[in-house]
Amino acid sequence: MKQKIMVTGGCGYLGSHTIIALIESGKYEVISVDSCVRSTPETMGRVKAITGVNVKNYRVDVCDRESFFKVFEENPGITGIIHFAAYKAVGESVEQPLMYYRNNLGTMMNVLEACEKFRVKHLLFSSSAAVYGDIKKLPVNEQTPMGVANCPYAHTKQICEGMIQSELVANTEMNALILRYFNPVGAHPTGLNGELSPDKPNNLIPVIMHVASGVLPQMTVFGTDYDTRDGSCIRDYLHVCDIADAHVKAMDYLVESRNTERCEIFNLGSGNGLSVLEMLAAAEKVIGKKLNYVLGDRRPGDIPAIYSDSTRANELLGWHCRYDVTAMMESAWKWERFINS
Ligand code: WQD
Repeated sequence: MKQKIMVTGGCGYLGSHTIIALIESGKYEVISVDSCVRSTPETMGRVKAITGVNVKNYRVDVCDRESFFKVFEENPGITGIIHFAAYKAVGESVEQPLMYYRNNLGTMMNVLEACEKFRVKHLLFSSSAAVYGDIKKLPVNEQTPMGVANCPYAHTKQICEGMIQSELVANTEMNALILRYFNPVGAHPTGLNGELSPDKPNNLIPVIMHVASGVLPQMTVFGTDYDTRDGSCIRDYLHVCDIADAHVKAMDYLVESRNTERCEIFNLGSGNGLSVLEMLAAAEKVIGKKLNYVLGDRRPGDIPAIYSDSTRANELLGWHCRYDVTAMMESAWKWERFINS
């Protein structure tokens, strides 16, 4: 029998790709809860176009405890939760920290309370490489200690991880995995689902794609004087469908009781660092034209380089990245043309 999984933030970028992967695994039945304040209910139509399955999204704010709990009452037998619902913009979190604490901690609190009340056994939490802070020793692995959070967003992820650890002492029926993502990019290979970035995106790939499609006239490479191989920052980019696949494998790992600790941490990175200039070169090759970019000053708050050691996820989850940077760019470009043509 299929396990019933709730995905919070199911209409979002990572949530929707994870729902597609859960359905395609054939092992999971999915319910989504998403207020759609940072996403759109139309996402479920895209999920249907790709999978042929109608996934119900409950348009509920996970911070609204009463409404959130009602979803469990209407759907008895939920065995696992994948908790994505949170705000994630670094700059915005600096400008409106309390909004970030209220939303990201509030959703976490209600998810943990629901796990206890409705006896949900398996929890996957969407954390971030941002918990490591400004790291000097690379690559990062799960033993790397958390650093000082360099923005409220990162701090909320650190606190949420702590909340899970504390709650597991009290709720002995639940096991959890914390998944720390590096830089998820790209879109579904069909080009039918991808990230709906804000009008003025901050992240590298949406900016590159907007420049390529003409939505933005020009972009800036933030810093070319870092101590890296070409002077620009290095990040660990990985395809969103690889991240989605990791969630299926992580849920399998809990469902099959392969975990040895009640709470385990996995870094989800490709194991490979690429620079901003290398990303631009890869994009130009795929798109087939020169992109209009200038070399500019450093962006405040950026760290020179971060990438992950992915051994733990490779060995224990049996997870390996299937998509390279060309596939990341091809899918992102397909999606850009789908939404902005
Ligand atoms: C990547 C590189 C920029 C835009 C952030 C969050 C992180 C995670 C993912 C998760 C950097 C450079 C960018 C541009 C550029 N969030 N850049 N010109 O900052 O590594 O990570 O998103 O939920 O927590 O911090 O990603 O895509 O913003 O930047 O040169 O116009 O691209 O300086 O080196 P980042 P990013």
